[in-house]
Amino acid sequence: MFILAIDTSCDETSVAILKDNRLLSNVIASQIDLHKKWGGVVPDIARRAHKENIEPAIKEALKRAHLKANQLDYIAVTYGPGLALALEVGINSAKDLARALQKPLIAVNHMEGHLLSSFVRNSQGNPSKRPTEKDFPAMGLLVSGGHTDLVYTEGFGKYKLIGETLDDAAGEAFDKLAKMLDLGYPGGPIISEFAKKGVGGKFGLPIPMEKSKDLNFSFSGLKTACLYKIKDIKEKNPTLPQSAWVYDFCAEFVDSVIKSLLIKLEKALDQYSVKSVLLGGGVISNEKLRRSINKYIPPRGIKVFTAYNKRLFTDNAAMIGIAAYYGVKCNYAKKYLPDDLEKLERDPIAEI
Ligand code: KG4
Ligand code: ZN
Repeated sequence: MFILAIDTSCDETSVAILKDNRLLSNVIASQIDLHKKWGGVVPDIARRAHKENIEPAIKEALKRAHLKANQLDYIAVTYGPGLALALEVGINSAKDLARALQKPLIAVNHMEGHLLSSFVRNSQGNPSKRPTEKDFPAMGLLVSGGHTDLVYTEGFGKYKLIGETLDDAAGEAFDKLAKMLDLGYPGGPIISEFAKKGVGGKFGLPIPMEKSKDLNFSFSGLKTACLYKIKDIKEKNPTLPQSAWVYDFCAEFVDSVIKSLLIKLEKALDQYSVKSVLLGGGVISNEKLRRSINKYIPPRGIKVFTAYNKRLFTDNAAMIGIAAYYGVKCNYAKKYLPDDLEKLERDPIAEI
């Protein structure tokens, strides 16, 4: 089956084409430059940019996949969670397309997309080491800008949210630290790069929820600790340039986030017996996080899967396409026929 998938949940306009679980094209039009000067995503600017980008992205995705629109079997789109104004653009385009082509529309949860991102294969069906049904039950660890979720996954479509953040998401903490340090937006990639050049252990930053008994996360305490520590360093050393301590500071921050994520992941694995861990979300782009998980989890006899390409960690439509594919294949998709498209509405706070 040929699927055209759309994601406009935040600040990337993305359109992908899949043939079953194989990715034929994945267009991602980033709006980072538009939001940079505001230090974060501005919903109204995002909506306008999605509106400008969506048609060209659809055309480009079809072109790269060497496909005509009338060859498509399904249209898929993110219905939530995400920014209401941004989601709306993708949903409206998807409805227009489904109506024009008289094809069914599949509504996909953005976090299910992140969860299933490691199932995507390239156009040749590679790489071979992809998860399959045999790797269920699985534990999903989704670490993005809006969510930090632990999802017990019994099978496709069978998800139980067993842990989430009580306040800020991990990615949000990266972005806020970057803002405090005046390093630009989005903060994740910059903080991760800076952290590589430094050594942690000098500032006494806390490890979030180190001793908590449940499976939830919390990153706002770490954020506040960073704020006070930075103020303290600047007050005590007014002439010291930021470059003298910022790499070590970022390294310690990253270590704290990684430790917190690992503690909760291990706790979840103590409580739920699974065969694999599925990683997803923008923060998974941090190499040290992936290395740490790959060091501690496989010795427990549990496989670890991430998407085959880094572009599938951050927001993209390929992951929406793969979730639609399994939804159709396993018969649990939220499917809208051309006659009842108006029933589909955005859900900015949708839960997996
Ligand atoms: O999954 P994603 O693209 O969007 C959401 O669904 O939120 O995640 C975006 C988040 C941002 O907070 C961004 O700073 C973070 O992922 N991120 C990273 C890296 N690249 C992006 N965090 C740490 N290290 C990175 N290399
Ligand atoms: Zn996302």
